[in-house]
Amino acid sequence: MENKTYEAIYRAHTNIALIKYWGKRNQELYLPMTSSLSLTLESLYTDTAVKFDAHLEHDTFILDGQLQDAKETEKVSKFVDLFRNFSGINLPVAIESVNHVPTAAGLASSASAFAALASAINAALDLGLSPEILSTFARQGSGSSTRSLFGGLAMWHKGEGDDSASSYAEQIDDASFDIGMLIVVVNNQKKKISSRVGMQHTIETSPFYKLWPEEVAKDLSLMLAAIEEKNINKIGTIAEHNAMKMHSTVLASNPSMNYFEAKSLRAIELVQQMRADGLSAYYTMDAGPNVKIICPYSQMDQIKAYLKDDFSDEQLIMSRPGTGPYAISKLSEPLEIAYE
Ligand code: ADP
Ligand code: DP6
Repeated sequence: MENKTYEAIYRAHTNIALIKYWGKRNQELYLPMTSSLSLTLESLYTDTAVKFDAHLEHDTFILDGQLQDAKETEKVSKFVDLFRNFSGINLPVAIESVNHVPTAAGLASSASAFAALASAINAALDLGLSPEILSTFARQGSGSSTRSLFGGLAMWHKGEGDDSASSYAEQIDDASFDIGMLIVVVNNQKKKISSRVGMQHTIETSPFYKLWPEEVAKDLSLMLAAIEEKNINKIGTIAEHNAMKMHSTVLASNPSMNYFEAKSLRAIELVQQMRADGLSAYYTMDAGPNVKIICPYSQMDQIKAYLKDDFSDEQLIMSRPGTGPYAISKLSEPLEIAYE
């Protein structure tokens, strides 16, 4: 067994939350304050290769062609430890990953990253974990990655108390209706305040945070009904309101913080304009300045036309719903995106 290598390469797609996860009730186990719900995106993904090999001296982690420093490597090593402890296969691992999504820019690179890594490890070590069980591992890399283990619309259940197994994700609809997202890349640089730090600061200092769990519970039940009806106007309206409630809770932190840039507000204004003109377009934002427009995929070209004076073609990424993770035969080349 010592000389055996265990390897696999997986692709996982990012997801954007329609009902946001913002805050943990247990930071060690990554248990969330609320359930959340998202759409997996076809256009943005991470490819990750793992190779467990006794000949390696220690774990290595290459991201987008760059060997990562001790701090970044330790983060992924700790995650791999969950699987080493579970399987008893205690071998060092070489990880190589390519993000087809700007890293740490509020475009959910950590969601596709940990879903791809968990899926590759599951296959390499032949663990045979179901996506639901795998999501309880993925959660401990990054909460949002639980939902990227599924295609279409996925829900991450908050679970009960300190019971790790009860906080898992599952698909709730395959999103095979006319829905898509247009991502407006306002800024693809690394954000100043990570989601992890931002959510904790909000819990600790925002007087509005106490309202958040009950608002999410209300929005979630409305959202599930809207999805059942496949009603994009209801889905968009609920998602937009949920996102802005999250951001207003963030704004009320002390010291105050926010993820908006001038161009984010401009994109929002344009969505309001197109909606007034009869298009079904709704906005959402995460822990970064980029705006995502929820809309019927069939209206994407009309929606893009409203944005073309303010954003270049490369800043507008169209996406249909994506699938859950799958094996690929080789790693892809890193993306070159250059926005100002
Ligand atoms: P984002 O909005 O992009 O998800 P986060 O701050 O939540 O931003 O997460 C970004 C972090 O996720 C990175 O700093 C890195 O530690 C981790 N990460 C990103 N891509 C990968 C990857 N492909 N493999 C492993 N970890 C990754
Ligand atoms: C605003 O999943 O990145 O995108 O669990 O600390 O890694 P950690 O946080 P992360 O937070 C995502 C926050 C969000 C909303 C969402 O995706 O639900």
